[in-house]
Amino acid sequence: MIEVNNITKTFDGHTAVDNVSFTVEEGETLVLLGRSGSGKTTLLKMINRLIEPGSGEIRINGRSTQDGSPEELRKKIGYVFQNTGLFPHYTIAGNIAIVPRLLGWDKEKIRKRTYLLMEKLGLPATYLSSYPHQLSGGQQQRVGLARALAADPPILLMDEPFGALDPITRVSLQKDFKELDELKSKTIILVTHDVQEAFELADRICLMDKGRVIQAGEPRELLSHPADGYVKDFFDDQRFLLEVKMMDPLDHDALIDAFNHFKNRGN
Ligand SMILES: Nc1ncnc2c1ncn2[C@@H]1O[C@H](COP(=O)(O)OP(=O)(O)O)[C@@H](O)[C@H]1O
Ligand SMILES: [Mg+2]
Repeated sequence: MIEVNNITKTFDGHTAVDNVSFTVEEGETLVLLGRSGSGKTTLLKMINRLIEPGSGEIRINGRSTQDGSPEELRKKIGYVFQNTGLFPHYTIAGNIAIVPRLLGWDKEKIRKRTYLLMEKLGLPATYLSSYPHQLSGGQQQRVGLARALAADPPILLMDEPFGALDPITRVSLQKDFKELDELKSKTIILVTHDVQEAFELADRICLMDKGRVIQAGEPRELLSHPADGYVKDFFDDQRFLLEVKMMDPLDHDALIDAFNHFKNRGN
């Protein structure tokens, strides 16, 4: 379990993250949703101490992240960077092996794990000796995910992992993400600005604005019981699609009701 308690971070007098608290249960996927500049990346980076928290406390399974070194902390946490963050001068194999090497795994164990992840992520093993720039954006994102999963950490932090992709690649990667058995038992915090993606992947959503959590809850709660006008407006232009997404596709009466409701509101 991850507990974020009253975390604040200020850069040069500007508050990027403002007294944020939430918890993520084991095995849950929490999505941090918000417009650009709302503090999502800063918050995510504080969880594995890529950025040190200003004030407040973060606990993982009851233990403060300030107990021990950042390096030790990061062995338990996989991190997927927004623009892949792959090392350009390392091969694909080299990139995936970074954490296992730090952990002192032997060569054979690293080799087996690397081949397994490539297969699970739908990447041909022939790419292992390639360099990141030789792969497409979608393939690089998959390698970024493979690298984060390499040492099988219980926690995964993902910063806009599908952000830079064209819509078709994005949907295909989201689908694979949902089906990947490696992810089923993991505790995941995923950052996105994309409302549809948040509803597709989240068990719970934290909607952020100006460094603060405006509302946290299950996707349907945010839609049906918005805490304020900001939350309502945030979802309004996609409300119909979101409501349909959460419905049983075989429940035709409910679908027709939703459509009529949508039509009668005139938007
Ligand atoms: N290293 C930094 N120095 C100064 N300001 C920063 C730094 N990192 C982020 N910020 C500011 O903090 C705010 C939140 O940024 P960020 O966490 O990157 O938001 P998001 O990921 O939601 O787009 C922004 O106003 C950004 O300009
Ligand atoms: Mg960001």
